Amino acid sequence: MTAETSVLVLDHDAETRALIGESSKKLGWKTAATDSGLEAVDMLEGGGIGIFIVDLDAPGPDSMELVRRALRDYPGLDAVLMGTAATMAKATEAVRLGISNYLIRPFGAAEVKRLLAHLAEKHPVSESTPARPPEVERALGAMVGDSQPMQKIREDVLRAAVKRMPVMVLGESGTGKELAAHAIHDCGPWRNEPFVVVDCASISHSLMESELFGHVRGSFTSASQSRSGLLTEAGRGTIFFDEIGELPVEHQAKLLRAIQEHEIRRVGANETVPFDARVVAATNVDVKEAMRNGKFRQDLYFRLKVFSIHMPPLRDRKSDILALVHHFLARYGADEGVTDFSPQFMNQLMQYNWPGNVRELENTVQAAVAKTRGLRLEVDDLPSTFQYCSGRQSGSLDSARLQDLERKAILEGLRMTGGDRVKAAKMLGIGKTTIYRKIKEYHLEDEGVE
Ligand SMILES: Nc1ncnc2c1ncn2[C@@H]1O[C@H](COP(=O)(O)OP(=O)(O)O)[C@@H](O)[C@H]1O
Ligand SMILES: [Mg+2]
Repeated sequence: MTAETSVLVLDHDAETRALIGESSKKLGWKTAATDSGLEAVDMLEGGGIGIFIVDLDAPGPDSMELVRRALRDYPGLDAVLMGTAATMAKATEAVRLGISNYLIRPFGAAEVKRLLAHLAEKHPVSESTPARPPEVERALGAMVGDSQPMQKIREDVLRAAVKRMPVMVLGESGTGKELAAHAIHDCGPWRNEPFVVVDCASISHSLMESELFGHVRGSFTSASQSRSGLLTEAGRGTIFFDEIGELPVEHQAKLLRAIQEHEIRRVGANETVPFDARVVAATNVDVKEAMRNGKFRQDLYFRLKVFSIHMPPLRDRKSDILALVHHFLARYGADEGVTDFSPQFMNQLMQYNWPGNVRELENTVQAAVAKTRGLRLEVDDLPSTFQYCSGRQSGSLDSARLQDLERKAILEGLRMTGGDRVKAAKMLGIGKTTIYRKIKEYHLEDEGVE
């Protein structure tokens, strides 16, 4: 097995998927996991699967049939069956197919490790894959989650990291755009150079030009000293423009020139200075819409979008929630001794739509740790916005119900903050623009206002 080949896990239980994912990662294999038989078929077709681990008790298409076809269509593939002893006893076809690898429930990390170690002899990880430096491993590991979209993001990050070309990171608020920008920097050979953040939404417009491009002494009334500006301070490192859509159009033009000509002119200066940093820009706004409104320069957009990374919303990669909760519990619960949560707690998190994405999940875990009286998080430790979901079994919510939940969450946010939209957005972990849009969409204009 080369580093390009993977382990595919088909199981309804998120914990099992995470368990196997962890173990195979340690052996140097990539893993793909799904709870859907149909998706598993797609993933097999995508190529590169060397080991297929299947739950025989899964609902949906007959798992045994899936395995039979996979063994027929993908020579060299190894199948591993999971199930209770009773299920295995009935799986007579497995014997006929010559399958000899089983995980009998209940099983733990030790059993998984033993089985995978056994398979590793047949599927050795390719020697040609060079080991990654620890800084790269650390940076990639900081982006928690093994869902397909997250694996794709790690690949994009690695590709972007070794180039100097500008990178655009797109995605809703809280999806991890800034984290990805850091990872791009840390995974590349310029990781010891500066990483400079420009928060375009918070720098005052009047100071922005000199903040960014620097100024010479006396170039304006309060300029008693020269300043080099953030672009210069980034050196050969990375300059990250957060919320680039908020950058005034005239500065967008100046930035584009800097990128193209590799030089900048400080405010009030005659001569230019070199500009060598790699530009990473993030935005959560619809750039095409912003261009139509004249708020985003087309030429800058075309320069940036050549390499773009799309951060998917958390609701489209819910399989990452479990790993993320463990990650945030380790961060926020360790001092308190809170290291666990009830299945119902997880169930509620899985039902929720996460308009504020990972940031909202992080805030939720942190708040639950602060609220809980025990050592394990329970449903009662969740804010009331979650209680609307109570009593439902796991499964997918239809979009009407999701919208209803979202509407109620925003309504409650507005009521709790007395109609302060900015505070409500913060509380819900969503962007300002998003809350304004949603308020309009759900006709909540007068809510929470006394
Ligand atoms: N995949 C992830 N793994 C761990 N933490 C994450 C992940 N994605 C986001 N976060 C955390 O969520 C918060 C919001 O992420 P951030 O990068 O600021 O999002 P954005 O810039 O898209 O609004 C940060 O605290 C970040 O560390
Ligand atoms: Mg951000």
